[in-house]
Order: sequence, then C-alpha cells, then structure tokens
Amino acid sequence: MQQDVLGKQLDLSALLHDVSNALKGASVIVNQLIEGTYGQSLEEIRPLLIALRDSHDRGMSLVEANRVSQEATPVILTRFDMLAFLQKTYDLFNPIAQYHSLKLHYQTQSSYRHGTQVKADRVSIDRMICNILTNAIKYTSCGEIFLRLLNQEDDLVIEIEDTGCGIPTEQLSNIFIPFWRSPNSSHSGRGLGLYVALCVAHAHGLNINVDSTVGQGTKFTIIFPCKDNVIWGVSSNGCCWRNIT
Ligand SMILES: Nc1ncnc2c1ncn2[C@@H]1O[C@H](COP(=O)(O)OP(=O)(O)O)[C@@H](O)[C@H]1O
Ligand SMILES: [Mg+2]
Repeated sequence: MQQDVLGKQLDLSALLHDVSNALKGASVIVNQLIEGTYGQSLEEIRPLLIALRDSHDRGMSLVEANRVSQEATPVILTRFDMLAFLQKTYDLFNPIAQYHSLKLHYQTQSSYRHGTQVKADRVSIDRMICNILTNAIKYTSCGEIFLRLLNQEDDLVIEIEDTGCGIPTEQLSNIFIPFWRSPNSSHSGRGLGLYVALCVAHAHGLNINVDSTVGQGTKFTIIFPCKDNVIWGVSSNGCCWRNIT
C-alpha cells in the first residue's frame, strides 16, 4: 500500500518535471520573440511561433495524457514516422539551444534500410527524447548538440550527443535512479528526467546506452531493435497495449 502511494507520488513528480520543462521551453521562446532575436516581421518570427505552439501543445498533451511513467499500461499506440517526429523536435529545440548560445544539428541518413515507421506511445517517446535533449542543453556551456537518426546494422538508432561537461565513469550507474543528481552540479533540477527516459525505453523494448568523457561530452544512444515486421517499437502482439491504429 505504502509502495503504491510512493509510486504514484513519483509518477506525479515525474509528470510535473516534464510539464515544467515544456513551460520553461515556451518561456525561452517568448523571450526571444520579445528581444526580436529572429526579427520583427511575421515571416521572420513564424518558426518561433510554431515552436511556441508546439511547446504549448507538448505541455497540454502531457497533462491530458496524465500518464504514469513506470507502467507499460494503459498507453496509446500510434504509428508515426520517426524522421518527421525528430524534425519537429529539432524545430522546437533549435531556438532553445540558440538562446543558450549552442548550435543544434539534426543529422539524418539519405535512406534507411527498413524505413523509419515506428509504432509507439508518441507522448512517452517525446518525453524520453525531450528529457535527454534538455539535459544535453543544460549540461553544455558552449559547443554543439547533435540529434541523429541512423541505421546501425539493422537497428534504428537515435543519438543525442553533446560537447558538455561529461559524466564521471563512477557516476554513470546512478544517473537513471530517481532523484539522483550529480553532487557537484551547479544546475537546478530534480533528478527525474533520465528516470522517465529509462521507464519509457523499457516499456517499448528499447535500449539506452551512455558514453561520456569528462570535459568532452556525453552521447546517449537509443536503440530500436530490428523486428521481423520492420515497424519499429512495440511488437504487434504487445498484449497490454491499447492500439488505436
Ligand atoms: N548530458 C549530460 N551531461 C552531463 N551530465 C548529465 C547529462 N545528462 C544527465 N547528466 C547527469 O545525470 C543527472 C541526472 O539527470 P536527470 O535525471 O535528467 O536529472 P536533472 O537533470 O534534473 O539533474 C544530472 O544531475 C547530471 O548529473
Ligand atoms: Mg534533467
């Protein structure tokens, strides 16, 4: 019973963490509009307005989904194109990276061996990627961030790499533990972003690997293992999933 209550509190904290990040992103974009960073005309600020709308929509969909992070059920599965999905993520985070004087790149391949169609819980996948990308921006004081969609062998792989402060080897095993934060971090945070990311990965049968070198940067690799039916993500026989497409 007590375990149950603690689990629910953790889920709520994780949800508030992600909604608060979406709101912070929106506020960064509004600041850029006010400062005229991108110009004054409607044409010039249109990308920012779209990013603002998408950031708002992200926050809303998180609240509406009100989804627990550590459970695989109930979730809503849809089919979507990961290439286009990440392009949207890039468009949303590009002004945020720029605000922090960082250059964000979206690197893709000209073709993918088994395509880029994914069957997954879109809101949850968004939480996983946005949390890792938010960290990349937060823990990089200058340099570049790379968002990549690649084939490695037969697998579909998302990489998020930064040129930031890096994570000491002895801390790598802690980073996914809820509420764990680096003891020498000067940044604010709640220690929940990577916990959410790992829960989403487990619920979808994905692997997350981390490579990091202190003073050089960190790379998170999210692997969608190749399936026979060549649609990435959850198998069609995923019994506990509510399938709407
Ligand atoms: N890209 C990164 N570069 C350096 N350290 C990182 C990075 N991502 C995560 N970390 C470390 O892992 C910890 C846990 O991350 P997270 O769960 O997102 O919590 P938070 O960012 O709120 O501290 C962070 O406090 C930080 O020490
Ligand atoms: Mg974080």
